[in-house]
Amino acid sequence: MNKLLFFGIILASSAMILASCQYKSIVEPVIPPPDPLDTISYSAEIEPIYQDAGCISCHSGGQAPDLRAGNSYSSIMNGYVDTEDPAASKIYYYPLPDGGHYQKYTSAQAALLLGWIEQGAMDN
Ligand code: HEC
Repeated sequence: MNKLLFFGIILASSAMILASCQYKSIVEPVIPPPDPLDTISYSAEIEPIYQDAGCISCHSGGQAPDLRAGNSYSSIMNGYVDTEDPAASKIYYYPLPDGGHYQKYTSAQAALLLGWIEQGAMDN
């Protein structure tokens, strides 16, 4: 009788363990990954980079592209942005951190700029 009781307890706890595993796998919360389509704003996030990275001191009208606020979008869309092959955009690769230009983006600025081109280089 004791053996039967013991066996019963083992059986019951195995069932509970199994059930808890199954229960856990069903209710485990799914944390969504960050949305890669969070829209990057040109006016709020990209245009200020030229100021922050010190581009304006040279690219302020005389030297193409004109990177002054208000002018930069039409200026870079005139041959410096390639939405078919974003990494081949001159506005992206020319001042890369490991490149040789006078002033360079930080890697965060470069990543943001590339993301904006990948999203279609919108005037937003
Ligand atoms: C000290 C002055 C100076 C600064 C600062 C500077 N540039 Fe330039 N940039 C030039 C000159 C001069 C040229 C043209 C000669 C050459 O290609 O190096 C040029 C060329 C470029 C070109 C290619 C132009 C073309 O028609 O092929 C791009 C794109 C560019 N710069 C972007 C930037 C960005 C973005 C920054 C800021 C991160 C920056 N530059 C900072 C002087 C500067």
